[in-house]
Amino acid sequence: MPHLLAPSLLSADFAELGKAVHLIESSEAAWHHIDVMDGVFVPNISFGLPVIKSIRKHAKKPFDVHLMIVRPDQYITAFRDAGADILTVHFEACTHLHRSIQAIKAAGMKAGVAINPHTSVELLSDVLADIDVVCMMSVNPGFGGQKFIERTYGKIDALKALRTRTGSKALIEIDGGVSMENVRQLIATGADVLVAGNSVFGAADPISAIRELSRD
Ligand code: DX5
Ligand code: ZN
Repeated sequence: MPHLLAPSLLSADFAELGKAVHLIESSEAAWHHIDVMDGVFVPNISFGLPVIKSIRKHAKKPFDVHLMIVRPDQYITAFRDAGADILTVHFEACTHLHRSIQAIKAAGMKAGVAINPHTSVELLSDVLADIDVVCMMSVNPGFGGQKFIERTYGKIDALKALRTRTGSKALIEIDGGVSMENVRQLIATGADVLVAGNSVFGAADPISAIRELSRD
């Protein structure tokens, strides 16, 4: 399967967020990656429901909403109503992860589970078959523009093996530090979705950066 690119709006200029959304829409990117941070689960605060709701009107491509928040279960239907198509919760933030996954799917969205760099993929073995996307953090969540953690390649291999073992069809999404330097190796290792913030919106020409990062 060709891989998908999901530019992260976190690295866009928030004063011109609509422009960034239109840029993604007119590019080869597949999804909008939307990072919600609460200042509790991660040491940073980004944006939330009203912002997502207002940009939804300007977009046709799927909204891949990555919740870096505690108690995500309280907001599942609210994010669906705001326009999320894929809703990702953190393994580390969910005491009853199986229930959270079922609630996301019952609300009509695809279910994603994100794992921090310290979280072993093996911990997903009993829910992997129910998940649509595994968002594998390749930096510690909270900020754009961080350095890619090299150990991620081994975790992709481990997750591919676990996916085969469990009969799961979950997409492997890599989030953090994706760049022109590592994109080829990430695709070769088996990433299905690549999130890219700084390497898109920090580029002189974001459209051609998206083209390059989307190329298989
Ligand atoms: C980090 C976020 C990422 C971030 C990626 O906590 O989950 O989605 O926007 O940004 P880059 O690509 O700049 O590392
Ligand atoms: Zn993210």
